Amino acid sequence: MRPRLVILSRGPKLYSTKRLSEEAENAGWDVRILDPLALTMIVDEQGGKIFYRGWPVECEAVIPRIGYSITRRGVPIVRQFERMGVIVMNSSDGITRSRDKLIACQMMSSGNIPVPITAQVVSWEDTNRAISRVGGTPCVVKSTEGTHGAGVFLAKTEQHARQLVYQMLEREMRPLVQEYIEESHGKDIRALVVGGKVVACMRRRANGDEFRSNFHLGGSVEKVDIDPDFEKIAIKAARILGLEIAGVDLLESDRGALVLEVNSSPGLEGIEKASEVNVAGAVSSRLNYLMQKNEGSINQDYQSNNVNEKYQADS
Ligand SMILES: Nc1ncnc2c1ncn2[C@@H]1O[C@H](COP(=O)(O)OP(=O)(O)O)[C@@H](O)[C@H]1O
Ligand SMILES: [Mg+2]
Repeated sequence: MRPRLVILSRGPKLYSTKRLSEEAENAGWDVRILDPLALTMIVDEQGGKIFYRGWPVECEAVIPRIGYSITRRGVPIVRQFERMGVIVMNSSDGITRSRDKLIACQMMSSGNIPVPITAQVVSWEDTNRAISRVGGTPCVVKSTEGTHGAGVFLAKTEQHARQLVYQMLEREMRPLVQEYIEESHGKDIRALVVGGKVVACMRRRANGDEFRSNFHLGGSVEKVDIDPDFEKIAIKAARILGLEIAGVDLLESDRGALVLEVNSSPGLEGIEKASEVNVAGAVSSRLNYLMQKNEGSINQDYQSNNVNEKYQADS
């Protein structure tokens, strides 16, 4: 029987979902794409179950593609799959950590991974002090939660920064004031890490005067050879957040690579096209490896159980 893979995705027609599904099928998996918001679960002392339209969902592996806006509803489903003992690429904890820029930044720094200096502010009156701690203006003001460049601003003056902080706090967002890495203006490097290896990378360039290089803001992508130091840092960043699949964004600063953020559901379209690497194929090879490892440990448990039974029978 072919091992069963569930891809949790709200968009079966999205490039990344389609590619992951296609390559996993090629690698021998029986793939189902399920909308995480259509799944229900039961939690009990035995571990519980997940249902799709009333039918239990059973599988050997899961790839969660939990979009930003559904993090709070999607993560418990991922956790439930973990509880059922299946392979989960990425874990619920990894996803949660990557979604909060402050937590991710703290974890990076605890692993001695270089990051731009980042200050948390809780009141607009903190802004000026935060700006001087991160090296003055211009500085970046960004929301702790957010993606695709939304909620990320370049503040040229202290007054502008204060205004941005004030507006974010009013909307109950959690603002951060961050050192602006000027030498990296409008560009960054995305390294795609799968199973502890950088499998592909690209340079992203912002559109026109824009300082944010996000693909979703019209940024362009190009092939790049990554420096071995950058590679090591990207691998370490994915490892410290506990991510099997990670899109690590690196800024090229005068003091070397700085990790800006780590994405736990990185888009594959830009990077596959720019790097000409079959990233989805690398993901399914990793799945096969983890599956073999799992089977190995199940066999080992089985053998050691048999040894125990034999020992008990003899004694
Ligand atoms: N401190 C910074 N210095 C220079 N550029 C930055 C800085 N922070 C963000 N940027 C630019 O803005 C983009 C979006 O910021 P990021 O923190 O990754 O937010 P998002 O999660 O929305 O992508 C980055 O890819 C980068 O091009
Ligand atoms: Mg980003």
